[in-house]
Amino acid sequence: MRVIHVVGARPNFMKIAPIMEEMAKYPEQFQQVLVHTGQHYDDNMSRVFFEDLGIPKPNLYLGVGSGSHAEQTARIMVEFEKVVIGGRPDPVVVVGDVNSTMAWAIVAAKLWVPVAHVEAGLRSFDRRMPEEINRVVTDALSNYLFTTCQDANENLRQEGIPEEKIFFVGNVMIDTLLKHKERALELGVPEQYGLEAGKYAVVTLHRPSNVDESAVLKGILEALGEIAKRLPVIFPAHPRTQQRIREFGLGDMVQSSKLSFTRSSSRKQENKAWLMEPLGYLEFLGLMADASLMLTDSGGIQEETTILRVPCLTLRENTERPITIAEGTNVVVGSRKERIVAEALGILEGEGKVGRVPELWDGRAAERIVGVLLNGKAA
Ligand code: UD1
Repeated sequence: MRVIHVVGARPNFMKIAPIMEEMAKYPEQFQQVLVHTGQHYDDNMSRVFFEDLGIPKPNLYLGVGSGSHAEQTARIMVEFEKVVIGGRPDPVVVVGDVNSTMAWAIVAAKLWVPVAHVEAGLRSFDRRMPEEINRVVTDALSNYLFTTCQDANENLRQEGIPEEKIFFVGNVMIDTLLKHKERALELGVPEQYGLEAGKYAVVTLHRPSNVDESAVLKGILEALGEIAKRLPVIFPAHPRTQQRIREFGLGDMVQSSKLSFTRSSSRKQENKAWLMEPLGYLEFLGLMADASLMLTDSGGIQEETTILRVPCLTLRENTERPITIAEGTNVVVGSRKERIVAEALGILEGEGKVGRVPELWDGRAAERIVGVLLNGKAA
């Protein structure tokens, strides 16, 4: 079976790694090709993940870069069409919900190449989110829909996807987390930053709804300032977020005007979040694992904190991952300052959720996916 795996943006890399590793155990059955669209291209948004996770160098790099949604999606489709026509894969494996994911699915489906979508069926039911559109389109076109939870199976059934295409396999991102957790902890990341384990908060923000409007971003930074009166708040920021903080003139609301974090235990606590460059996979996992609190608008971090048993506040109005609320450590709090601060202080007073491990988030999802593909069990 000739398999083309496609990745484009940061959250794709930790999902494809365990699938490629598992397929490599069957060299007679699988010939693997890895294509990177280049949606994310900065070293710390891409290269460092390949190194940390031991992902093979991509066979092809399309270099599409940034742009509006239509520009980016169209560029990926034009380039990827050439790859599929040249390679006639069977099937194309796509992960997650970024623009790259949807673009590949459309190209492959139109060329009658089977699409395997890993992380199918998640729904926020909010079509203002570009990812929701990517998810709905990708799932509608996929032949193998690999899901992480029962509510995803139900969403797909509601959309009329035939049962024989749906495979509940667990969570490949958790395969990667469990594999690398010990290594990440051994790095001693908090100590390197002069932090005490269990006595700091970590923040990530990049959703357009949080960072593209000055008033919303300002309110969130004010909330982080309030929380920083109680404990250090570490903020590895996506390039888009750094750009917006500069553009909106909000640089004074965070520490380090140079937008980089100094590794020094003697730094002055100024009741502002510490802004720093995005971290690699292992460093971020090491930092997150010992945090007392995460604040995020990421999808994946809601799942990772559930496994790490770290209380998580999601700064969005909804989530496509409700299992992290029902069973995990997640609370969806929106983007208003008062609510963020109140919930954070509650957690610091010991009110954080402990949660439990969701069904099949056991480190063996990739094994199940490869099992299905080997048996050819799809409609
Ligand atoms: C994308 C995904 C989002 C995912 C996120 C993880 C879509 C619609 N969104 O959002 O679902 O949660 O990745 O990070 O696919 N930039 C750089 N260097 C890079 C990449 C981006 O500077 O390597 C900057 C550029 O200014 C770019 C902006 O970030 O325009 C946004 O990048 P883009 O890939 O369009 O979307 P993300 O916000 O990263």
